[in-house]
Amino acid sequence: MTIVTGVTARVPAKLNLQLAVGPPRADGYHDLVTVFHAVALFDEVTVEAAERDTVTVTGEGASVVPHDGDNLALRAVAALRKRVRGGNRTAGVRVSIAKRIPVAAGLAGGSADAAAALVAANELWAAGLTPQRLAEVAATIGSDVAFALLGGTAVGRGRGERLTPALAPATQYHWVLAFAEGQLSTPKVYAALDRLRAAESAAPAAAAQQQPALDAALMTALRSGDAARLGRALSNDLQPAALSIYPALRKTLAAGLELGALGALLAGSGPTCVFLAASAERALDLAVSLSGAGVCRSVARVTGPVPGAAVVPGQG
Ligand code: C5P
Repeated sequence: MTIVTGVTARVPAKLNLQLAVGPPRADGYHDLVTVFHAVALFDEVTVEAAERDTVTVTGEGASVVPHDGDNLALRAVAALRKRVRGGNRTAGVRVSIAKRIPVAAGLAGGSADAAAALVAANELWAAGLTPQRLAEVAATIGSDVAFALLGGTAVGRGRGERLTPALAPATQYHWVLAFAEGQLSTPKVYAALDRLRAAESAAPAAAAQQQPALDAALMTALRSGDAARLGRALSNDLQPAALSIYPALRKTLAAGLELGALGALLAGSGPTCVFLAASAERALDLAVSLSGAGVCRSVARVTGPVPGAAVVPGQG
C-alpha cells in the first residue's frame, strides 16, 4: 500500500451573480439569497503530514493572510480532524497555500483555501467523508466555504451555506475582473449596509425591509444561456454599501460599461469589479482597455462556471 505524504487541491474563486441581503439576524449574520458562480482563478493548497499544524502562504497578497490559528485553512483542517476517527490521521499537518485569488477582494479566497484544505486533508487521512459531510464541516468555517467545495453555479440561502445547484445549459461565460488597490472588510461592508438602510427607513415613505428573494429574471437568463440578458440581470445589494466606503470604484464600474461590458457589479463585498463580456475576444479587448484606463490595480480574464475544490491528480 502506498503511504500518501502530501495532497494538493485546487479551488476556484467565486462571484455572486445576485446577492440579495435581508435584515441583520440575532446572531449578527444576514439572511441571503445569492447566486454563486465559480470562475477559473485558482488557489492551490497542499496538506502534508507533520508534527504539528503550521501554514505557509505564497503568491498574491500572501503577507496579509493570517499565519496562525485564524487562518481559515488551518481552522478547516482542525474541524475535520475532530470528525475523523483512526485512518491515516497524524498529529499535525503542514498546510502550504499558493495564492492567485486576491485577499479580502470579495472573491472568497480565504473560504476557497479552507475548502481546498478540507478536500486535501480528507484524502491525506483517507477519511472518506462524503461531499455532504464535508459540506457540513465547511459551513462551520465560513459562509462561502460550502460553495467553494461545490463549484459551478448554485443558489445559496441562509448565510449562503444552504446550496442548490442551478440547472442551466453548459454555457461558458467570459468575465473580466478589475482588482482594486487595498481591501474591503466584509463585516464593515455589511455594517455599512445596515446603516444605509436604517437611514432610509427613517424616511416616512420607506417600506419595512423585505426578506431577500431569488431574481426570476436572472434565473431565466441563466437558463437561456444568453450573456446579454445575464449582464442586465446582475445585482448586488452590498454594492451601495461598498461604494460608500470606497467611492473610487464607481469610476471603474462606469469605465467597464462604457467600454462595452454587458453588465458590471462588485464581487461580493468588493472591492473587485466584475464585468461580463460577450465573447473571449471582447473580454480581451475589455481587459486591455481597462488596464490602459488606469482605473484599477490589475485585470484578469476568467471563464465560468468551473467545478469546485478538487484534488490535483498525480500527487503524493
Ligand atoms: O461567514 P464569514 O466568516 O465568511 O462572514 C464574514 C462576515 O461577513 C461575518 O462575520 C458577518 O459580519 C458578515 N456576513 C453576514 N451575513 C452573511 C455572511 C457574512 O453578515 N450571510
